[in-house]
Order: sequence, then structure tokens, then C-alpha cells
Amino acid sequence: MAKRTTAFFCKECGYESAKWLGQCPGCREWNTFVEEPVGKKEKVGLRSYAANHKPSLLSQIQAEDEERMSTGFMELDRVLGGGIVRGSLTLIGGDPGIGKSTILLQVCRNLSESGKKLLYISGEESLKQIKIRADRIGDFNDNLKLYCETNLALIEHTLKEERPDVAVIDSIQTIYNEDVASAPGSVSQVRESTNLLMQIAKTENISVFVVGHVTKEGVVAGPRVLEHMVDTVLYFEGDRHASYRILRGVKNRFGSTNEIGVFEMCHEGLREVKNPSEYMLNGRPEHASGSVVACVIEGTRPILAEIQALVCRTNFGLPRRTAAGTDYNRVNLLMAVLEKRLGLKLGEYDAYVNVAGGMKINEPALDLGIVLAMISSYRDLVIDEKTIVFGEVGLSGEIRAVNMAERRVAEAKKLGFTRCIMPAVSKDALPQSKEMELIGVKNIQDLMKYI
Ligand code: TYD
Ligand code: MG
Repeated sequence: MAKRTTAFFCKECGYESAKWLGQCPGCREWNTFVEEPVGKKEKVGLRSYAANHKPSLLSQIQAEDEERMSTGFMELDRVLGGGIVRGSLTLIGGDPGIGKSTILLQVCRNLSESGKKLLYISGEESLKQIKIRADRIGDFNDNLKLYCETNLALIEHTLKEERPDVAVIDSIQTIYNEDVASAPGSVSQVRESTNLLMQIAKTENISVFVVGHVTKEGVVAGPRVLEHMVDTVLYFEGDRHASYRILRGVKNRFGSTNEIGVFEMCHEGLREVKNPSEYMLNGRPEHASGSVVACVIEGTRPILAEIQALVCRTNFGLPRRTAAGTDYNRVNLLMAVLEKRLGLKLGEYDAYVNVAGGMKINEPALDLGIVLAMISSYRDLVIDEKTIVFGEVGLSGEIRAVNMAERRVAEAKKLGFTRCIMPAVSKDALPQSKEMELIGVKNIQDLMKYI
């Protein structure tokens, strides 16, 4: 049989197949398969690296605390699990233009000020372009070196020669490895390049940041292809029209995941938002029905967000429903619960639900907030503006307990809220306090008594 010289790869998740497929069996995305040449795989330097490797006993392994470098951004340090770990490989993914290059250049600046050696390798922009961006950010000292290159062999050589503490590769989709036959940005190129960078990071003890663009169409492989290979995966999210950006940890071998960092894009690069709740609640309407503040947990941090609902009579036979910033199906489910358990005639009403501020929240604790906002809009009742709510709503209208109730209450207290509607079970476990009135509810009929 003739040897295969090409294979088909899913550019979303990297699934490999001998034939073209319409839907990827790995990630269920449609139309993501691209044909790429496959060459013989020879791992460079792996043999010498593996020569003195033997299985070890767990009890004999000395585990020192990981040495960590602060990025100068508290928000980023937390997402990384306490700073940059030496010899780690971090992938930063996100839409083009969201601010990946900017934040990494700022991190370079902060680190260079604390005396670390840095190398910023760009395959996308010229030295001049980087200089223009750097001028917006501030002054740089001589610990930072810039290098424009896309050839992986040259990058490897330079990294070994310069031996920086931290290196940035911007972006992985522009880097190419001469040993791999396919074009830069293809699944096999991106994978092989990352593999080699991972080896360099581990053997030379250089912390490497790799930028990966998220692309919806085209032939460029997305960063999800790399997720399983790297130590840490961070995604930069945010609305293009809003100025704030959220950095979310998706995978972290050196810390907890699901932490988020909040930044704001301004004139001089990105700025940390230390108190996101305050930021999210900015511009809240006064004495308006359909507006409720809910408390959700992102990672280990409570965030208050305003939920808005607009419920109005439908003009067509089929009511319209939309959900921005939360799960559409969840909103439909909650409307069905309200219809059945409280007898609200929601079938004749359009409903629009929005998490103000543009954050995307999928925590079940948001349920009670959505329900309350919808009741408030339907009945045209104004909810007291010093009230926050959280709790999961079950199918029979029961309000179920959620975790970290104490933290949520504490965050609300910090921002001057005085009343908290929460699951009865969670309330019993909390101490009573004077500044905060805690109201426990068992089901949504109960909830009606307090509004
Ligand atoms: P960039 O970091 O180049 O995005 P990425 O590398 O993720 O593609 O960010 C580019 C955007 O950020 C661009 O639209 C301009 C904006 N920006 C500011 O608003 N302020 C600044 O100080 C900088 C440097 C960029
Ligand atoms: Mg960029």
C-alpha cells in the first residue's frame, strides 16, 4: 500500500483523520477539516534529553516551591496562580485585536523593571510597529530585546544564545518549522512548533508565553489544538465595543482554573480593574422595574452584576425571547418554571434578558436573579436597589443552595447593599449581622412575599 502523504486535521481541536469529514468527531464542529501534508516525525534533541531519565519513587522527589515571578499585574498573577512559573509555557488565546500583544508587552515592561531579561519575538509586526505600541505604553529599559523572526530554528538558536528569563512568541500561527511540510498556521506546524518551544522552556528554564489567535474561518489552526500540550491556557475575552477585557484561566498546571482577571483598555495600554463589581454596576438605572443585582462567583472571586429583563406583550403569535450574557435555554427553562409554578402568563409575552456590562455568566446562582428580574418587569414592580439575590432555581420552583454564600454576602456588604435574598439552606449556615438583612427563600412562591 502506498504511504499516506497527506492527512486531514480539524483546525479547531486537531483531530486527525485519513479522509475528509464534514463534522469533527472530536469537537462536533462542522466544516473544520483541512488537508495537510504529513512528513516523517523526528523529535529533535529528545534522545539526548531522555538518556538519563529513569522512573523515580514519589517519596524521593524533592519538591521545592515553584519559583514565581510577578507580572506586575495583580489580576494576571492571580489567574496564573501567583505569578509566572520558571520554565512554564503559557498560551494566551483570543480574538485578533483584543489586546494580547499589548498585555504581553506591558508584562515585559514590568518584568524588565524588576531586572529580568526578556525577549519579545514577533512574527506579525515589524520592529517599528512594536516601537509605536511601546511608546503608548511607557518607557522601557534595556532588559527587553525585540526580535522579528518566524523561522523556528532561528528562534531556537536565539533563545539558547540569549537565555532570557521570559520569552514571548507573538504569534504561534506565524512561526514555521522547516522540517514540517505544511504551511505556517496549519495544525501540524502549530503543534510541532509548540512541542519544540515546550522542550526549550523546560530544558533552558525559560518561561515562554505563546500568543494564539482564535479564528472563526480560514485555514489557521486555533489555539484549542494546543490546549493539551501547554502548561497554562488563558483566554482573553471581551466585547469589541466595551473597553474592559476579561482574562480567563482555562487550564493551569500550577494553580486553580476558572480564575478571571479584569482589565480595561485605555490610552496607555491595559489597566487593571481591581474592583470589577463596582465597574459592572456602573450606570445602573434608578427605580426601574426589571433590574436586579445578582452575585456570581468567578473562580474564587464574587462579582456583582446587574440583570435586566424586559417582559412585554407580544405582537405576534410566537413570543420572542433573547438572552444576552447568559444561556438562552436556561432563560426559557426559568420562564417555563414561572409559568407553571406562579401562573404567570409568559406564553403571551416577549422576554429580553441581559446581563449588563457585557459579561458572560453561566453560573446556576444567577437563576434567582433572572427570575426576579422577570417577575419585576412582568408585574412592573421596582426591586429595592440595595437588594442583591443569588440562588439556583429547580424545575419545581424550589430554590437550591449555592456554594460560597458567605463570600457573596461579604462582597455585597462591601459595596453597600443591605438586603440579600438567598436560598434558605444557605442562610441558615450564615451568621446574622446588623448591616445586612438576610432573607432565606425556599421556593419561588416564598420569593413573592418579599417583593
Ligand atoms: P493588540 O494588543 O494589538 O491585539 P492582539 O495582539 O490581541 O491582536 O491590541 C490592539 C487593540 O488595542 C487596537 O485595537 C488598539 C487598542 N489599543 C488601545 O486602545 N490602547 C493602547 O494603548 C494600545 C497599545 C492598543
Ligand atoms: Mg498582536
